[in-house]
Amino acid sequence: MSAQTNPTTKTTMTRLSGKTALVTGASRGLGRASALALARMGAQVLVHYSSGAKEAEAVVDEIRKVGGRGDAVAADLSMPDGAHKLAKQVSAVVGDRLDILIANAGISKAAAIEETTVEDFDRLFAINVRAPFFLVQELLPIMGKDSSIVLVSHSRTSPERCVPGRYRNPRRKKTAAMSAEV
Ligand SMILES: NC(=O)c1ccc[n+]([C@@H]2O[C@H](COP(=O)([O-])OP(=O)(O)OC[C@H]3O[C@@H](n4cnc5c(N)ncnc54)[C@H](OP(=O)(O)O)[C@@H]3O)[C@@H](O)[C@H]2O)c1
Repeated sequence: MSAQTNPTTKTTMTRLSGKTALVTGASRGLGRASALALARMGAQVLVHYSSGAKEAEAVVDEIRKVGGRGDAVAADLSMPDGAHKLAKQVSAVVGDRLDILIANAGISKAAAIEETTVEDFDRLFAINVRAPFFLVQELLPIMGKDSSIVLVSHSRTSPERCVPGRYRNPRRKKTAAMSAEV
């Protein structure tokens, strides 16, 4: 791949030139910022989404506008076969080599512990834990020894965080700041 020029920062970066990357949950938030950052560094980026097709396409457009390579791939990772379906699409686009996997897709629920249901727990576990596990299992055969896997998780808690609604806004603020930094 040739050098990429980012019109916003006027910098040219080729550090990841020739590399392929998958970012799950890249339709918004930290995933979106990560996908754009990888593309700016020259990687071919697969922008994964579940319900945000329009948003994911906008990320792909943004990547292509500056001469990068990007494609959107869809999969609902709450489904038992979600990771398998996603891995198939990844192989179809990048072939037999994936250099970077950022397993970022995830959900959280601002609910007190006593209000959390078994259904809530199962959904959180399916998307945040089961899907990354099986995605890694599926993609390992096309990842080399120099490939990178980044698992984004959300495990912090405190008694204060257990109060419903308390951390919604601070979390959004923090995400916006982190996304801007990326
Ligand atoms: N923000 C924080 O303060 C913070 C702190 C610690 C950890 N984290 C973790 O960092 C990651 C990103 O956080 P964020 O705040 O940027 O998240 P976000 O803005 O809520 O975006 C979540 C992403 O996950 C995708 N997703 C949700 N449900 C999905 C499903 N069933 N199947 C496939 N994809 C699904 C969404 O895709 P669609 O919109 O296309 O459905 C979206 O792209 C998460 O794993 C989160 O737990 C965040």
